[in-house]
Amino acid sequence: MCKRMTALLILTAIFSTDLGLLSAASSSSSLMQISADGEILVCTNRDSGTATVIDLKTGQKLREISLGLKPEGLTFVGQSHQCAACIYGDDKVVVFDADSGKLSHQIDVFDEPYGIVSNHDGSQLYVCLEYPSKIVVIDSKTGTVNRQFDCGKFPRGLALADDNQTLYVTEYLTGNVISYNVTTGKELNRWPGLSTDNLARQIVLHPTLDRAYMPHMRSKIDVAHGEGSIFPYVTIIDTKPTSDEKSRKRIPMDSFRGTLVTANPWECDLSPDGQKLYVVFGGTDDIFVCDVLDDNYRELVYSDYIRTGHNPRAVKVAPDGKHFYLYNALDFQVVEYSTQTNRPTKAIDVCEVPYSEEHRTGKILFYTALQPMTGRRWISCSSCHPDGDADGRTWQNPEGLRNTPSLAGVAWTHPLHWSADRDETQDFEHTIRGPLMQGRGLVQGRISEALGAPLSGRSPLLDALTVYNNSHKFPLSPYAKEGLSASARRGRSLFFSKKTGCAECHKPPFYADSNPIWPGKVHDVETGNADASELMGPKYDTPTLLGLYRTAPYLHHGKAATLRDVFVIHNPNDKHGVTSHLNDEEIDDLVEFLKALPYEDPVPAAKAAGLKKVER
Ligand code: HEC
Ligand code: HEC
Repeated sequence: MCKRMTALLILTAIFSTDLGLLSAASSSSSLMQISADGEILVCTNRDSGTATVIDLKTGQKLREISLGLKPEGLTFVGQSHQCAACIYGDDKVVVFDADSGKLSHQIDVFDEPYGIVSNHDGSQLYVCLEYPSKIVVIDSKTGTVNRQFDCGKFPRGLALADDNQTLYVTEYLTGNVISYNVTTGKELNRWPGLSTDNLARQIVLHPTLDRAYMPHMRSKIDVAHGEGSIFPYVTIIDTKPTSDEKSRKRIPMDSFRGTLVTANPWECDLSPDGQKLYVVFGGTDDIFVCDVLDDNYRELVYSDYIRTGHNPRAVKVAPDGKHFYLYNALDFQVVEYSTQTNRPTKAIDVCEVPYSEEHRTGKILFYTALQPMTGRRWISCSSCHPDGDADGRTWQNPEGLRNTPSLAGVAWTHPLHWSADRDETQDFEHTIRGPLMQGRGLVQGRISEALGAPLSGRSPLLDALTVYNNSHKFPLSPYAKEGLSASARRGRSLFFSKKTGCAECHKPPFYADSNPIWPGKVHDVETGNADASELMGPKYDTPTLLGLYRTAPYLHHGKAATLRDVFVIHNPNDKHGVTSHLNDEEIDDLVEFLKALPYEDPVPAAKAAGLKKVER
């Protein structure tokens, strides 16, 4: 054999082992994954509670597996066809065989498992619990929880480096990135975001460069305006910082290609050779294909722009680099694209639409940053109410500071807004047409400025938006899984005592008092003076107390950082229930009770009491 030939063979050998390593090196949580051998794709379908397995050779759906309420993060277990998924709504992690569809383990965790990754040989799974802010380490063979450790706040994105030791975690509501040693649970490094960074769900590691890429947005709470409140970004982290200054760079995705604005970056993925980054935008229904540069300066440059189906939430590049796959959540489809042409080559239905067409239409409207909802493409309803949750923000609205509420159970707790000025979701037509969203709106023609004038029945689209908006259910509090603790029971007695008077306004089953009357009942509980910009106080709607445990900060102005502060700092004259007679332990008990709400499904009691839910 001639020398050149040998050299070539050695080179190819090095090259192919490298590739082999690359495709299996790091692991990043996503709702869609491709097996290391490139044979199958598996995705979780949040709304239908299932996972779908697709044969990538034939493009056929092989099977759909029922998993539970709101499956989210998914991973292959090492190089196998075993999968593990986080069932966010059922507080469990399930391990299943994608080839047979059989479940091998169901592992209970405390609350809200979201992201999951596997180590290289598949022996360990690392799961983040969002609200509890923990990493749980699971033995995948036995399905037992080995240990857990604390991690940041509201973690969602997870990526495990190829050393199988360093775990990168994104905080959902701050965009902070923190790395941990998975064996010791010790924090290794931290890349803090700006105070405006928000909704960071996912992070991926580059196969060869010391870089991690995190799609997210920014919420500029002092701008209640369509241009200037919500911005899309990809943040790039230097994973091996050499100095104390943790390098972190934000690439704006609304000026990446001229003036083309994209909204709500959801997930991203790198090609196996690390040369391309694909970023999906759930708000503007599109993707940027970016060239990855190793220049420490520009980092990403524009390569292509692709319009997609409805609400793309994930993208994955196949290990051979020939195709990438897109998950269009509200089309309930996976679409295959050629990486050569960036054109779609196949579309595969993953599940049935799990609700009415009207609900689906409403959900599409809620998630879109396009007309007729939004004029300037930056913002959708879901930018502040992602999946109906709060965004952890208090916005400076024209009428004063307003803490974003969760939309859980909102069908039962009308009227709407802290000031109870809206009697129906259809009134959000004013938000759509107003300065915040600047959309054309869903009703034909002019609408009355008066909020009391009914808009229900004026537009099928607006009614559909209402149906979706009113569909969110109250999740049960994780603090009451074993029933109320002794402390929470003492707190309950205090809450229902004549002396504190809490239940005069916060009446079970929803712990509110205005269901559904119009005009809404409002009360002055002396919280109206803390904000100089307030124009509507001092009377406010009695908010529901169900689900409070995860919705800090509190009160309409968001100035109470904890539940304790609501009484200890913001109730100096006993105008908000009587609490000055309570000692420290009693306040603790009251807080324990509030954290345990709801400890039972409030709906049967509501029906028995003749309360009516607003559906449209
Ligand atoms: C910029 C962030 C932002 C956007 C965009 C946004 N909201 Fe909100 N939403 C808020 C805040 C803050 C509040 C609390 C305001 C208040 O009570 O006065 C709120 C309150 C609500 C409420 C009342 C909940 C309750 O329990 O009283 C509903 C319903 C709602 N929004 C739906 C929508 C819909 C539908 C859209 C899109 C048309 C939308 N929001 C767009 C931030 C936002
Ligand atoms: C007179 C009616 C009334 C009474 C009595 C009352 N509340 Fe409230 N509660 C309200 C109103 C109105 C608000 C909203 C105030 C605001 O946001 O500024 C509120 C807000 C709250 C909040 C914050 C909720 C959130 O989502 O931010 C908590 C917690 C709370 N109340 C608990 C209690 C407890 C515990 C008691 C008894 C010690 C009590 N309340 C007594 C009317 C009442």
